[in-house]
Amino acid sequence: MEKNFKRTLITTALPYANGPVHIGHLAGVYVPADIYARYLRLNGRDVVMIGGSDEHGVPITIRARREGITPQDVVDRYHKLIKDSFEGLGISFDIYSRTTSDIHSETASEFFRHLYDNGQFVEKTSEQFYDEAGGRFLTDRDIVGECPYCHAEGAYGDQCEKCGSSLSPTDLINPRSAETGATPVLRETSHWYLPLDRWQGALEKWILEGHKEWRTNVYGQCKSWLDLGLQPRAVTRDLDWGIPVPVEGADGKVLYVWFDAPIGYISNTRELLPDTWETYWKDPETRIINFIGKDNIVFHCIIFPAMLMAYGDGYQLPDNVPANEFLNLEGDKISTSRNWAIWLHEYLADFPGKQDVLRYVLTANAPETKDNDFTWRDFQARNNSELVAILGNFVNRAMVLTHKYFDGIVPQRGALEEADVRAFEDIRKAVVDETAALEGFHFRDALKYAMEIARIGNRYLQETEPWKMAKTDMARTATILNTSVQICATLAVAFEPFLPFMAGKLLAMLGQGKITWDMAGREDLVEAGRRLGQPELLFEKIEDDAIQAQLDRLERIKKENQTKNWKPEPVVAETSFDDFMKLDIRVGTVLECEKVKKSDKLLKFRIDDGMGGRTILSGIAKYYNPEDLVGRQVCFIANFPPRKMMGQESQGMILSAVNADGSLTVVSPSADATPGAKVG
Ligand code: 2FM
Ligand code: ZN
Repeated sequence: MEKNFKRTLITTALPYANGPVHIGHLAGVYVPADIYARYLRLNGRDVVMIGGSDEHGVPITIRARREGITPQDVVDRYHKLIKDSFEGLGISFDIYSRTTSDIHSETASEFFRHLYDNGQFVEKTSEQFYDEAGGRFLTDRDIVGECPYCHAEGAYGDQCEKCGSSLSPTDLINPRSAETGATPVLRETSHWYLPLDRWQGALEKWILEGHKEWRTNVYGQCKSWLDLGLQPRAVTRDLDWGIPVPVEGADGKVLYVWFDAPIGYISNTRELLPDTWETYWKDPETRIINFIGKDNIVFHCIIFPAMLMAYGDGYQLPDNVPANEFLNLEGDKISTSRNWAIWLHEYLADFPGKQDVLRYVLTANAPETKDNDFTWRDFQARNNSELVAILGNFVNRAMVLTHKYFDGIVPQRGALEEADVRAFEDIRKAVVDETAALEGFHFRDALKYAMEIARIGNRYLQETEPWKMAKTDMARTATILNTSVQICATLAVAFEPFLPFMAGKLLAMLGQGKITWDMAGREDLVEAGRRLGQPELLFEKIEDDAIQAQLDRLERIKKENQTKNWKPEPVVAETSFDDFMKLDIRVGTVLECEKVKKSDKLLKFRIDDGMGGRTILSGIAKYYNPEDLVGRQVCFIANFPPRKMMGQESQGMILSAVNADGSLTVVSPSADATPGAKVG
C-alpha cells in the first residue's frame, strides 16, 4: 500500500572521483534520478536530490602513486570535472558535495563512534600482508608479481590484467610491494566488523516481506544474499587514505570506503539543510529513494540499512532502490581502464547544445530491466527520426503557422470540433499514462507516452490541415492553431523532466513562466492574445560525419587496446629442417594487382616468378591499394596445390605477417631479389 509521505529524499550513488563519468553512469543513475526529481518538483512536492563524489578508496591512492601526485590532487581534479559535467547535462542536484569535506568526516566519524559505543561492532584479528620497507599494510592491488598462468610480470594480487585470471596475493610468483619492491610479510592486524548476521531477521522482514514491489533484479539479488546467510563485514582498513577510525589505538586505520560513502548521503543533506536535515532522514513521513547501478545493490539494500538499523535514533530505510542494469557501448562492456566509454565531458564538448539528445537516447534505451546497448547509429536515428521529425516538427509547424496566419498572437478559438476534443482526450490519456509510469520508476515508458503527445499533435495537424483551412475559414484556423499552441504547452510540461533544455526554450517561445505538472493536458493554458516568441528549431539533424567521427574514435581505441594487450602467438611444436624444406618459398615481382570483384577481402596478383608467371589470390584487400603493390616483391609458397577462390584459381600463397590489431603486412625482401629465387 502507498504510504503517505510529506517529502522525498532522492540519493544518487556517489561516483568515485577517480575518473570522469560516462554514459553508463548517466543511464544507470543520474538521468533517471534527475527525471524523477524534476517530475516531483513540477508536482510541487518537497524533494531534495543529493549527489557528491566518493573520494576515498584504494583505486584513488593507486592512481595518485602512478601519477606521482597526492590522492587529494586526484580527487580535486575529478570532483571538479564530474561536478561541472553533471551541471552541463542539467542534472539538478540540490547539492553536489564530496566525501573529503569536513562535515562528512565529522558525520562519518560520529556514526562510527555511535555504533562503537553501543556495542554494534565485533573486533577480529587476522593476518594481512605488510610492507616492512614502506611500513604499511598492503591491499591485494598493492602487491604485484608474476602471473602463475600466463607468466606476465606486473600481475596484481587480485587479478592479472594480461590474461584476466583472478588471483590472490599468495598465487603470485615473486610477490612484492608495488611501491617499495619489498617482499610482503604476513602480520597480525585487528579490525571492526559490522555483524550483519544480527540484522538478518530484520532485513528479511523489511525486504522480503515488506518490499515485494521492488524491481525484480533488486529483490532477487537481496533474496540471494539473505538466503546465503549474512556474515560480519569489516568496516575498517589499514590504509593512509580515508577517514581515521575515531577510536584510541586505531592509528593507521581508516573507515572502509563503503562504510563512509553512503553516510555521505547524510552529510550532504546536513550540509544542504543544517537545520532541517534530520526530518529528511528520521521522519517516517519522508520517503527515501536510492538511485544506483546494479553493482551497488548489496551496499544499499543490505549493508547501509543494517548500519542505519544499528544506529537507531529514528533513521529511516529507503522506500525504494530502483537499481538499473548496465549499459554497453557498441556491443562491448563499458570499461574505464580500456577507455571504452563515452565520457560526459567529451560529449558536451563534441555536441554543444545537444544535452537533451543524450538524455533522450539514454532514457529511451535505459537498462531498466536488462543490460542494453548504446550505439551511435541509434543515437543519430533517435535524434533525426524522433526528436527532429516528431517533436521538433510538430512544435515548429504550430509556431510557424501561428506566426504566418496570426502574426504570432495566440488566436481566440471558437467552439471545439470533434477532432479538437479527440486530440485533447488522447493527450490527457497519454499524460495519465506518463504520470503512472513516472510514479512507478518506468522512465522508458514514461518517455514513450510523452512522445505520444507529439505524435498526437502531428496527427491532429495532418487531419485538420490549417494551411488549407486558412484559405476558406479563418475562424476554424484560429481554433486549430489555438489548440496546437495548447499542445505545445503540454509538451513543454510533459518533457521537462526528460528534456529540460528543450522545455526551457519552448516555454520561452510560448511566453510561459512557471509550470506545474497539472498543467499538462490543459485546454486553456496559453491565453488568446498572448504574443509568442519567434519560432526557433528545437532540434537539428545530426549528420553522418559527426557520427562517423565518433565511430572512428572508438575504432582507434579498439586498435590501441588490441595492441596494448597483444602477445605473440606461442611458438608451435618443434619441426625438422626436412619438413621445412618441403615448403617451396620463392620471391616474385608483382606485375599486376587488382581487386577481385564482389569480394572485399581478395586481391588478385599476377606475379613474375621467373618461371613464366603465375596468378595468386590473397586476402589482404583491406590493408593495401592494389596499385601500390605493383612493382613490389613478395614471398610466396610455390608448391601448394592450385585452389579456387571466388571462382578464380590461385597458384600459391603470398606470405604476410598478422599484426596485433589483426591487420596483415606483406613480407617482402629487404632489397631486390631475383624473381624465382628460393627462400630458405
Ligand atoms: O560504485 C561506486 O561508484 C561507488 N562510488 C558508489 C558509492 S554509492 C554511495 F554509497 F555513496
Ligand atoms: Zn596472467
